[in-house]
Amino acid sequence: MKALNIYNPVKIHFGAGLIGETGKIAKKYSDTALIVTGKNSMQKTGTLDKLVKILKDAGVAPIIFDGITPNPTTYEIDSAAGIARGKGIGLIIGLGGGSPLDSAKAVAVAAKGNIPVWDYLKTTAKEALPVITIVSTSGTGSEVNRYSVMTNTETGEKPGFGYECMYPKEAVIDPEIMLSMPANVTAATGFDVFVHIFEAFTGKAKNAFSSAYCMQAFYLLKDNLIKAYNEPDNIEPRGNMALASALAGLAIDISGVGIMHAMEHPVSGNYSNVAHGAGLAALALESMKYNLNACKKDFMLIAHHFGIKRAGKSDDEYAGSLIEKTKEMLSALNLNIRLKDLGVEKDKLRKIAKEAFDTMGFAIQNNPAEAGENEVLKLLENSY
Ligand SMILES: [Fe+2]
Repeated sequence: MKALNIYNPVKIHFGAGLIGETGKIAKKYSDTALIVTGKNSMQKTGTLDKLVKILKDAGVAPIIFDGITPNPTTYEIDSAAGIARGKGIGLIIGLGGGSPLDSAKAVAVAAKGNIPVWDYLKTTAKEALPVITIVSTSGTGSEVNRYSVMTNTETGEKPGFGYECMYPKEAVIDPEIMLSMPANVTAATGFDVFVHIFEAFTGKAKNAFSSAYCMQAFYLLKDNLIKAYNEPDNIEPRGNMALASALAGLAIDISGVGIMHAMEHPVSGNYSNVAHGAGLAALALESMKYNLNACKKDFMLIAHHFGIKRAGKSDDEYAGSLIEKTKEMLSALNLNIRLKDLGVEKDKLRKIAKEAFDTMGFAIQNNPAEAGENEVLKLLENSY
C-alpha cells in the first residue's frame, strides 16, 4: 500500500457577501497590503473599489498593482514584487481569476527573496509573504492551492510551480462576486474545473483523498456548470460551481494534472490571447481518447456518475460514452473548438510539444497513458 502525506493549510471562507470580512482577515497579518489584480473586470464591477474601502475601514492601507494580464508574465510578477519590497508591504491580496491569484502567490515569494521569480523554478522557495485570495471565477482552484503558473516574458515558456510556503493563508470565496462573470469566462473556467477533476481522478498520483474531492466536485459540476452558463444571475449554480472549483483545486494540489494541462500551458504561453480553459477545450477530446485504455474503469465510473445509462454497452462503449458526453458539454458551453480556431499556427506544434516536456514534464509523467514527444505532437495535430 502506498504511503500518503496530505497537507493543505488554507483557511477557506465560503459564502455570499463574505468579501466584507476581508478587512478583518487582512488585519490579522499586516497593516499594509498589495492588491494584485488585472486591469478590467474588478474595476468595471466595482469589486476593487469595494475591497479598497473594506481594507481601509479595517485599518489596512492598500496599494493596487493592476498590471496582471490573462497569462501573467515574469515581468509583471517581478514588477509587483519590487513594489511590495520597496514599500515594505506585509500582505499580498490576490483579487480576480486564476491569473491574479497565481501571480499573488508568485509575488509573495519574489518579494521575500531578492532574485527574479523565474529563478524559483530551480531554487526552492522557503518563505513568502502571507497571501489572501479573493476569487472572482470558478475555475483554476488557485484560491486554495500552492500553485502558480507564469509565462517567461522573453521565451514564452509557461511552467507551473509551487512550494509549501506559497499556500494562501486564507481564501475568500464569495459567489456574489461571480455574478458578473461573462458567459465565455463562465464556460472556459468551468471546463477547467472539469479537466482538473478528470486529470486528478485518472492520474498516476491519484489517491483516496484526491478522489473524494474529485467526486464531490464532479457532482456539483454536472448539475451546475451549464446552468451557471445559461442563468448568469442565479447565485445557486454560481455558488455550487465555486465549491466545485475549490474542491477540484484541492484535488490537483494533492494529485496534480496530466497531459491536457501539459499541452495547454505552452499553447497559451505562446498565444497569450488564448484563455486556459479554451485551450483545454481544444485538447480535451483527443487526450481523453488517448487515455481511455489506460484508465477505462475511471472513465466508466465518471460516466456512471454523469448519469449515462449502461444499457447493454460493452466496457469500451461505456467508457467511450464519457467522451461523447464531454463533447455534448463542450457544445452546450459553445466551446467545441480546435487549436486552429484559437489562432495557433500549425508549424508551431512541434515547439509546443517540446515545451510541454521542458516545462510541464511532471504532468506528462503523471498522465495515465505513457507519452513521448512524438505522441504529444500527434495529439496536438489531431486537435488542430
Ligand atoms: Fe487548469
